[in-house]
Amino acid sequence: MTVEQLVGALNGSTNSAHDFSTVMNDAAITDLANFLKTGLVDPRQYIDYATGTPKNADANQGKSLYDGLCGDCHGLDGTTFNFASPEAPEFIGTLAVDNPQEFLHKARFGQPGSNPMMPSTFDLGWSIQNVVDVMAYAQTLPTGTEATAAPALPGTLGSGFSMIAALLAIGVLAVIMFFVIRVWSQRRR
Ligand code: HEC
Repeated sequence: MTVEQLVGALNGSTNSAHDFSTVMNDAAITDLANFLKTGLVDPRQYIDYATGTPKNADANQGKSLYDGLCGDCHGLDGTTFNFASPEAPEFIGTLAVDNPQEFLHKARFGQPGSNPMMPSTFDLGWSIQNVVDVMAYAQTLPTGTEATAAPALPGTLGSGFSMIAALLAIGVLAVIMFFVIRVWSQRRR
């Protein structure tokens, strides 16, 4: 259908039983018709639903696109915005893994009402391949399910060990000094 035909199908002029003009104004109906005409895609073309991963994606390409735009707001590691709660965080990486279809859509058209307003890569002229590449990279970002305490543990233990080692070294040095001074002062007698 043309955009005009789609508008007609949505505002009831083609079929009075299919009239959305009571819930959407003319501008919204035109926006929706434009989306149906130029933006709607079948996500199965781009996402393997069995594995939840993007098809034919280049994560390296995705990284440079991500770092150049998305990372400004979401952070280079994707953890600046937590869409859920501190206890069960949901980052851009979480959504990329859990709901690649939603990721595809929002990365293309933005997040309405977000602050700062997330741009639409569709309006910026990105291809779907660009978005699919970004998705592949985003799936490698933290999802919040990583045991954040686990990596910290060896570090804490490590610094504990170096602390003990330092104290031991000081003690050993003190004992050596003690004997050196003793021997030295005995010799002088
Ligand atoms: C100007 C800042 C900005 C930029 C640039 C930006 N975003 Fe966002 N994005 C946001 C904000 C703000 C939210 C909503 C955060 C919230 O709800 O807490 C959001 C939400 C999202 C969501 C939806 C999360 C959900 O739970 O529904 C996805 C997916 C997303 N962004 C992906 C991207 C990708 C991919 C890019 C790069 C192509 C990008 N964003 C660039 C600001 C930005």
